[in-house]
Amino acid sequence: MKVSVKVPATTANIGPGFDCLGMALPIYNTITIEETVLPGTGIEINVMSDGDTIDQLPLDHVPTDENSIVYKAVELLYNSIGQTPSELKINIHSNIPVARGLGSSSSVIVGALIAANELLGRPADEVALLSIACEIEGHPDNITPAIVGGLVISSQEDDGSVIYKKLDWPQEWAITVCVPDFELSTDIARSVLPKDVPMKDAIFNAKRLAMFVQAVNSKDSELMKLALQDRLHQPYRMKLIPGLDKIMDNLRHFDNVLGCVLSGAGSSILVISKKNNLDKIKDVVRETWADQNIKCSIRTLSVENEGAQIISNED
Ligand code: HSE
Repeated sequence: MKVSVKVPATTANIGPGFDCLGMALPIYNTITIEETVLPGTGIEINVMSDGDTIDQLPLDHVPTDENSIVYKAVELLYNSIGQTPSELKINIHSNIPVARGLGSSSSVIVGALIAANELLGRPADEVALLSIACEIEGHPDNITPAIVGGLVISSQEDDGSVIYKKLDWPQEWAITVCVPDFELSTDIARSVLPKDVPMKDAIFNAKRLAMFVQAVNSKDSELMKLALQDRLHQPYRMKLIPGLDKIMDNLRHFDNVLGCVLSGAGSSILVISKKNNLDKIKDVVRETWADQNIKCSIRTLSVENEGAQIISNED
């Protein structure tokens, strides 16, 4: 049996929603798992890429041994039903830029879990898949939209379960994804965060997140301009993204720009705007990064409302 699953890229945090807001985007990885007949071959993981040189890292960045998150995802699912994975061939067709804050690790975890679940006759439901995937990833903000699609606010509870609610992204707002030519691992980007934050910063983010939800629900662009701010992670990560402060400053003068935020843990950034003057926004980002000798790839994307999909299932 051979199962292929297509999983969208995701952006997370989106300003005030550190570790809880995420959105699926129309860039995809495809994960195929095939049961192999030769005993003793173990689990083989191969990674292939269609990406260009700016978006992609050398594929040896994706571990393919037992330490791989893909291996862990498959193993946890098999273990949850008292089994151990044996002979499997896993192919990852990668289009999502790696180590750029666009959910490439979540996509392979989710794709491997859903494909393995299909091979096993679907023992895990959505609740179980969310819980296993978040256990591996450590937070639900990329995993949840990768599974369910759309713009999602989610929380992994103390018992491991994940609760989520979808919000409708206003069609009037554009999402411009700016991917620089340098990688930033989530581990490094999390290592610069403090263990505790000042109460006033926690209150600032709580207010901004409430504004975010209301702004999205009421399509209120002026409120969204206030909402797209953060004091929990971006100030600490600013030093890891050369030029981000200048890009934010340069875009502040644009009336149609609602905000500029880090995508997940970086290194990509998102510009949220109305749908006019997109070329000018792109020029500002490209030129500001060029001043720092950073090349980038920039595209305006819509929200992907579908989560991971099984695209083929052959006996
Ligand atoms: N919320 C996570 C972070 C997303 O900012 O570290 C990256 O995995």
